[in-house]
Amino acid sequence: MKVDFGVYHHSTPEESNAFRERLERVLMPLLKSAFNREARINALDVGCGLGFLSWLIARTFPQGKVTCMDTFKGDSLSDVSVERAILNFRALKVEDRVTVIQHDLREPIDGSYDLIASNLFFHNLGKERFKVYENVIFALKQGGYFVISDMFSEEEDMKILEKQLDLIVTRTLFDDDWRFRVMILKKEKQY
Ligand SMILES: C[S@@+](CC[C@H](N)C(=O)[O-])C[C@H]1O[C@@H](n2cnc3c(N)ncnc32)[C@H](O)[C@@H]1O
Repeated sequence: MKVDFGVYHHSTPEESNAFRERLERVLMPLLKSAFNREARINALDVGCGLGFLSWLIARTFPQGKVTCMDTFKGDSLSDVSVERAILNFRALKVEDRVTVIQHDLREPIDGSYDLIASNLFFHNLGKERFKVYENVIFALKQGGYFVISDMFSEEEDMKILEKQLDLIVTRTLFDDDWRFRVMILKKEKQY
């Protein structure tokens, strides 16, 4: 079966693929510097859609486990569904290490994770993203990492995030567009 990670809202299939390729080039080395390749990390992909980021994490850490969590009801990714996400993980032969869970992330998250990652998720949530940040931070282990890849221009978000997390690294995804950023934050502070 052919793997299909979907088309993002306001984008063509080619642009969506180009975005994913760019993110992979920027994010993979950053993840490799956060954890040993053989680490048995427990990761969560929030707003995972059809699983692009879950696949990137599973590939980067072959001993790791990933939970792909989404309502699978949003309209910001074409034809998103639990079934299509599972078919992708089967085709990629990572279905034994990736668990798909249907969950609204505005509600508390079960489990505790070494890595919680997101791509093009938070900007969909409006003000409700602040509640989801809280849920994510609560579910992150001490010493765990939070990755946000998104259109990001809000000072307000950084103020809230940096109260509870340390900013480790920021990268822009495109030289000519400062909105698209990848940030990695770490939960080290006791609060
Ligand atoms: C643009 S897609 C990004 C998908 C994926 N991260 C990727 O990189 O391909 C945003 C996803 O967020 C999901 N979503 C939106 N609101 C959500 C919520 N409250 N809880 C869980 N998922 C949500 C949508 O269903 C959609 O799959």
